[in-house]
Amino acid sequence: MRLDVISIFPEYLQPLSLSLIGRAAEDGILDLNVTNLRDFATDKHRKVDDTPYGGGAGMVMMPEPWGQALDSVRPANAAGAKPTLIVPSPAGTVFNQRMAYELAEEEHLVFACGRYEGIDERVIEYAHENFNVIPVSIGDYVLNGGEVAVMVMVEAIARLIPGVIGNPESLVEESHSDVLLEYPVYTKPASWRGRDVPEVLLGGNHQRVGRFRRDEQIKRTAVRRPDLITQLDAESLNRRDRDA
Ligand code: ADE
Repeated sequence: MRLDVISIFPEYLQPLSLSLIGRAAEDGILDLNVTNLRDFATDKHRKVDDTPYGGGAGMVMMPEPWGQALDSVRPANAAGAKPTLIVPSPAGTVFNQRMAYELAEEEHLVFACGRYEGIDERVIEYAHENFNVIPVSIGDYVLNGGEVAVMVMVEAIARLIPGVIGNPESLVEESHSDVLLEYPVYTKPASWRGRDVPEVLLGGNHQRVGRFRRDEQIKRTAVRRPDLITQLDAESLNRRDRDA
């Protein structure tokens, strides 16, 4: 997968060269490029923002540097599928695991990191000509810019690409992979500071372990995320689940 990030703070994205994502880039599974928006500024001060038409607080990112930066990451061959352009914004659709799975199937993702009060809306309109544009929020709170949101999304998406994670089995049972949150996990010692690992996990009865874990998932989800329980498909619950 090719990933482009456009930002006025390329240094912010440096952690993407670490750990599993960094290794995937070294191995050629990810082709990760960070573009400095200021390289497309048109004046000697490398200015990329200006005051908003209509007044109001703060500054707005200018269209020309953005237009050129987007043109620079777009493949020359217009015949292929349009890349997906993700515009991080608190006004976007809220990111979730389903979206991560969908985006992990794409060949080319571009992330446009806004700062200040946002990007001139005409850039977003123009971008529709060459990209599938999706404004995305990572949650109902406001960050100073899109960079941290991009790191969150790239990590969530890239780990779903085959070869990025060492043990793909760990993806199957994790939280949100089937709506329910993950069950609690324990390791040695069996007793620590007076707290014992649940008996059932020491016995080696796989069926009982499976039942225990499933019950814990349901209880945990009901307490922490009752909103998710309502998304559960009734067909996916068996009679024992309903008693949990
Ligand atoms: N930029 C500022 N706040 C954001 C958020 N919550 N999600 C994505 N991008 C943002």
